[in-house]
Formats: sequence, C-alpha cells, structure tokens
Amino acid sequence: MILWKFFFKIDIDTYTPQTKLFGLQNLTLSDVESTSEHYLPIHASSGGFYLALDCNFRRLFVLFSDPYSLLYGPEVGKRVQNQVRENVTHYASVQPPGVPNSKRHSKYEQWLLENPELCVRPESRCGVFNWGLWMERGHESRGPVITPDTNAVPARLEQFLLGAIEKDQRDKMREAIQSLPASCKELWCKSDKECFALRACLVNVLTEPHVDCGDMGWAMISPFGNFDGGEFCIADLGRRFAFHEGHIAAIRSRRLVHFTRKWVGSRISLVSTMHRALIPHCTKRCDSGERVSAERSDGRGEGEPAQKGPSGGLRARGNGYLV
Ligand SMILES: [Fe+2]
Repeated sequence: MILWKFFFKIDIDTYTPQTKLFGLQNLTLSDVESTSEHYLPIHASSGGFYLALDCNFRRLFVLFSDPYSLLYGPEVGKRVQNQVRENVTHYASVQPPGVPNSKRHSKYEQWLLENPELCVRPESRCGVFNWGLWMERGHESRGPVITPDTNAVPARLEQFLLGAIEKDQRDKMREAIQSLPASCKELWCKSDKECFALRACLVNVLTEPHVDCGDMGWAMISPFGNFDGGEFCIADLGRRFAFHEGHIAAIRSRRLVHFTRKWVGSRISLVSTMHRALIPHCTKRCDSGERVSAERSDGRGEGEPAQKGPSGGLRARGNGYLV
C-alpha cells in the first residue's frame, strides 16, 4: 500500500531548513524527545511505503517498509536482512567502532550516561564506522580520501531503491565513482554499479537533529537490531516514522532536518551516501588524467569528516572498547 503526502509549503529547490535546525540543536536530548512527541506518527503498513512530495511533486522522503522482500522475495529477503545484522554485529565485536565526532552526536556522553549498559564490555558497543571515500571539510584541495575504517560493504538494495526514487542522480553518482582510479576505490568498491561512495555504520549511537550539508542529495538509512523506539523524525515535515529492522528510508538529507528518537535495546543504523564535493573533483581529475589520492584519513566524523581542532589540525579519534 502506498501512503502519499504532499507538502505544498515546501519547494525543495528553494527550501532552507536553518530555522528548524537551529531551534532543535539548542535543545537538550530530553527536550528534542518531548518536542518530537508532537510530530504526527506514521506507521507504514507491512509491504507498503510512504512517499512525501513537495509542491512540485518532487520526492522528499520515501520509507520502504519491507524492501528486502520487495527485491529478493520474502524468504531470501529475510535471510539477507538477518545476514546483514549478523555480519555488522560480528564485525563490531572484533573491531569496535570509534567514538563519534560530529554535531550529529554532540551529546554522545549524555546518551551513554542514560544507557550505562552500552559502556559495559564485552557485549556492548557504541560508536561509528565510516567506510568508503569522503572529502575532508576545509581540505577539499587534498581530494578524495579513503576513510580509516574502509573495507568492502556493498549495498545493492540501496542502489536499486535510489534508482527507483531518482534515477538521474543515482546514475550521476555511479558515473562519478566509475571515473575514480582503481587505487582510490579498490578497498571498498566491488561493483561497477556502485553509487554510494560513503557508508556510515552507527552502532547504538543516537543521531541528533541535523542536515547533511555535505551530501550530494539523497541518503539511504536502514536500521537493524532488537530494539524498541528509535523513530525516524523529519522536523520539516512534522512527522515521526516507525522505523524497524528491515525498513529503509531515503531522504533528501541536505535539505531536511532529521534525527532519531531514543530507543531501548541494541540498534545498528547503516547510512549510505556520497559527498557532493567529490563530483567536481572526480570530473576534474578524470578530465586532466590526474591521479586521485588514495591515502587514508585520520580525521573523523560520520558523514562530516575531519573537522578542524582548536589548533587547526585534524581531530583524531580513538578506537577501542568503551569501559
Ligand atoms: Fe543524516
């Protein structure tokens, strides 16, 4: 079943989310929680999806309630879904994620204090992986940089869904990745159909109100794990969406203020995206025949890499168990 909603007050080409964003970013975690309580709750029925359109019928947000079955069929889809959860959970158990370093998780310590079980080893995990290629904010001239966590994590389903939502953009992202030299993508790109250069994996990390100003356009988000709560909120739409394991959301992440509500339990969120600063750089390097840097980055920040520290240098992050 398709659930449609038009937002005639939003024109995505001219819409600016700053007012909503600043208001929410100044709130405590508890205030964000109580504010979003007043958003309209949406439950996409099993097998259906929710589609939000702007005043020009352009897509703002899509929530797929059962995309694994849609693509693979119910039986195989369930297996794929379970395998993704088990793979990421196992990976996080042998390679603990790093402490997040971005405005999306600025109240990370408060979140841990509210959930002390996340700090007890060895079962618990709380942190962020970044896999793929990003552009360092303020250091774009250095070119694309492979993130420190990088290894191969394909997301074929997200590629397929983005093609259904906005094929032109999916193809543009795919062409940009194809134009990269092998040295720049051999660690993370295993298909010539790849269209996401960067994947963040949030392990039990709460995401606060933000926009992804460095993103190309769309971000695909999928939660996994055994948890209650964790609704996906879009402040500009005044909606909060039930967001369970097996769902996939596609959002114009650069234009809409989004965040996750609190949950209880273990929750992993996979985010697939691409930095728009990568596009002109790829084109330029490709045209000139220049070689793109394949050095790894030491800077951090999920989707918001390598912010400058007080000294002007890049902020490093620690990797390890939280005890
Ligand atoms: Fe985001």
